[in-house]
Amino acid sequence: MMVILWKIIHFTTITGFSFCFLNDVAPEDNPDIPAIAKYFSTKGRYEEVNPYLIEDILAVNRSILQPPSAQCREIHLTAIIRHGTRYPTTKNVKKMQKLYDLLKSLPPAKESWLRELQTQWTMWYTDDMDGRLVQKGVNDHKHLAVRLSKLFPSLISEEHLRGGRIKFITSSKHRCVNSTLSFKAGLTELWAIEDMEFDHTVNDALMRFFDQCTRFVQEVDNNPSAAPELDKFKQGPEMRRVQEKIADRLGVPYSLITADMAEAAFYLCAYELAIKTVNSPWCKFFHEVDAQVIEYSSDLKHFWKRGYGYDINSKSSCILFHDVFSRLDKAINENKSDQQVTEAVTIQVGHAETLLPLLTLLGFFKDNDALKSDNYAAQTERSFRTSLMLPYAANLVLALYDCGGGDLRLQPLLNEKPVSFPGLSTDQPASMPSYQEVRERYRELLQGCDFESECQLFKEPAGV
Ligand SMILES: *[C@@H]1O[C@H](CO)[C@@H](O)[C@H](O)[C@H]1NC(C)=O
Ligand SMILES: *[C@@H]1O[C@H](CO)[C@@H](O)[C@H](O)[C@H]1NC(C)=O
Ligand SMILES: *[C@@H]1O[C@H](CO)[C@@H](O)[C@H](O)[C@H]1NC(C)=O
Repeated sequence: MMVILWKIIHFTTITGFSFCFLNDVAPEDNPDIPAIAKYFSTKGRYEEVNPYLIEDILAVNRSILQPPSAQCREIHLTAIIRHGTRYPTTKNVKKMQKLYDLLKSLPPAKESWLRELQTQWTMWYTDDMDGRLVQKGVNDHKHLAVRLSKLFPSLISEEHLRGGRIKFITSSKHRCVNSTLSFKAGLTELWAIEDMEFDHTVNDALMRFFDQCTRFVQEVDNNPSAAPELDKFKQGPEMRRVQEKIADRLGVPYSLITADMAEAAFYLCAYELAIKTVNSPWCKFFHEVDAQVIEYSSDLKHFWKRGYGYDINSKSSCILFHDVFSRLDKAINENKSDQQVTEAVTIQVGHAETLLPLLTLLGFFKDNDALKSDNYAAQTERSFRTSLMLPYAANLVLALYDCGGGDLRLQPLLNEKPVSFPGLSTDQPASMPSYQEVRERYRELLQGCDFESECQLFKEPAGV
């Protein structure tokens, strides 16, 4: 029997009265989608962040963009996009295999979903999948391209594409190159362009800056003791409880289920959903409370290794930060001097590890307290949730408007939703700040944030 929950999905307040609109089946009650799907961190689907896409993958609501006047024209757009859905990496496949082997070695289970895993489900993930883009990932980017062109029709247009005014830059990683090709294919298929091909540039200095920032690599990325809070959490009571519950379900001693195995089961559920759109029996190992614990452990990792945990994490993105602002300035200057904007659109494809340091540098998702091993309960309302920030094909879009008379506006969108630059205004996200205000907000970074000096191992004291 299926229980249909009546969900309040929307509130509107008009002169003090509240109206609720009820919708019969909210996406989280869809039997094809595990209830824990919203906690999959960087292995989550883009659709979980924007559930309206489940019904219509090309849905766009243009009225989310509200330039201050009818005069405003879009003059430039930069999009920094994570690659689409991918296979697990070799390291994760090995962890999954280990858990699967354990399951197969146990006597036939009583519960049907467990028996299904033992007898019907087959371990189809192989080492050589190596994080490659899957077909769903191709579609992630094709569909995103179409939606963005519907949202910004005067910028992401056939005319600009044919005129070479849409530039594509990608990380060299195969899943990013393939995502870039898919984004382009989304546009060429949309406009049925068959007589032209469009270039892209591979640029790891921009899109994989994290590999090239020596100080970050040594002090954080390759430093096994850079995230003690993560290590402690993985040994802590919340995580242990998740492992014990899995062990209880399997009827094995607690010592047999490691934190890695718990994560492997969790990510098997995530991959089966993301790649095959299947609500697999692996998901049955977890209640929502367990999923929240594993999500927190992933958030801890990202916080300490790519986010606010260390200053160098965000500073490693200085090169991309300056690149973004110089493109905006260039478009403004060209427009001012009555030239056609030569780069109307920049599409940059990279990794979660590309986006997160930049979002951190810009001050997004900053909570009052650091994520720690011992404040899990206090952090339930945190804004730093990778599941919401960094699903596959996550994107930061900056749209620049010329509203006439020197009035320039910059609208940031995160995963296609308008947001405010942190610390800039407590206004509605939809009210676009002036470009001057934005430059003022980031003045210190614009004047400093030098990749070379931030990333050298022994940073000189300020002022030298
Ligand atoms: C579109 O966005 C506007 C502004 O946010 C909102 O008021 C409206 O309800 C949305 N329309 C749909 C169909 O979602
Ligand atoms: C991705 O690109 C590689 C070549 O770089 C190709 O072999 C592979 O088939 C592509 N995958 C997809 C899903 O497009
Ligand atoms: C500059 O921007 C304005 C919109 O504010 C537009 O009308 C004009 O055509 C642009 N100039 C050029 C040369 O593209």
